Amino acid sequence: MARAFSEIAFTQSVRNRQEELGSRGDYASLDSPGVDPGDHLTEIEARFIQARDGFYQATVSETGWPYVQFRGGPVGFLKVLDATTLAYGDFRGNRQYISSGNLSDNDRVSIILMDYPNRTRLKIWARAQQVPIKDDPDLAAAVALQGYRALPERVVVLSVEAFDWNCPQHIPQRFTLSELAPDLTALRNRIRELEEENAELKAFLKS
Ligand SMILES: Cc1cc2nc3c(=O)[nH]c(=O)nc-3n(C[C@H](O)[C@H](O)[C@H](O)COP(=O)(O)O)c2cc1C
Repeated sequence: MARAFSEIAFTQSVRNRQEELGSRGDYASLDSPGVDPGDHLTEIEARFIQARDGFYQATVSETGWPYVQFRGGPVGFLKVLDATTLAYGDFRGNRQYISSGNLSDNDRVSIILMDYPNRTRLKIWARAQQVPIKDDPDLAAAVALQGYRALPERVVVLSVEAFDWNCPQHIPQRFTLSELAPDLTALRNRIRELEEENAELKAFLKS
């Protein structure tokens, strides 16, 4: 945990609640100016982010309601441009533009990235800028996904302000089809071998 995370997440109401429930002392040292701000992604976070095929993104409406939407794509579609900048192509969907509209009023986002097989999650707080595809061809090229069937309408650039790794508690272990594919292929091959061997043995017994 780092100072930037504490400054953003531990609002006065949160601190009051921690005080009331006896945990304020566990986190008080994060406020010390000597503590690493922890607002720059390291190689560890960059590798983790680039291995994901989706994340949950929360925005805030002008009426104060949080709104969470899932953003998915091929592994690595959320690009790490540098230690404080992420970017992704925002694909055309049902054209409700809830996240996009929220971001035009309030640029704050909170995202959570899940690695279900390894039961790991990373939370990131950032400011989002929406860049029309035509306005910045270099940026559009940086988030382009060769061979992926989706139409990016804009690039969302996230300026990271804080992040925090969560503990693995209560994360169910899940695997996607592509994560299971190598094991399934090995199993299928083994079944085929055993079927062939079985057929040979049956034929031998009959002869
Ligand atoms: C034809 C089509 C229909 C969709 N319908 C839904 C839907 O009913 N609910 C939903 O959450 N997402 C739906 N999606 C996916 C969203 O449009 C997509 O995730 C989009 O980025 C949502 O952005 P927003 O929730 O910020 O408006 C649909 C996508 C397409 C292409």
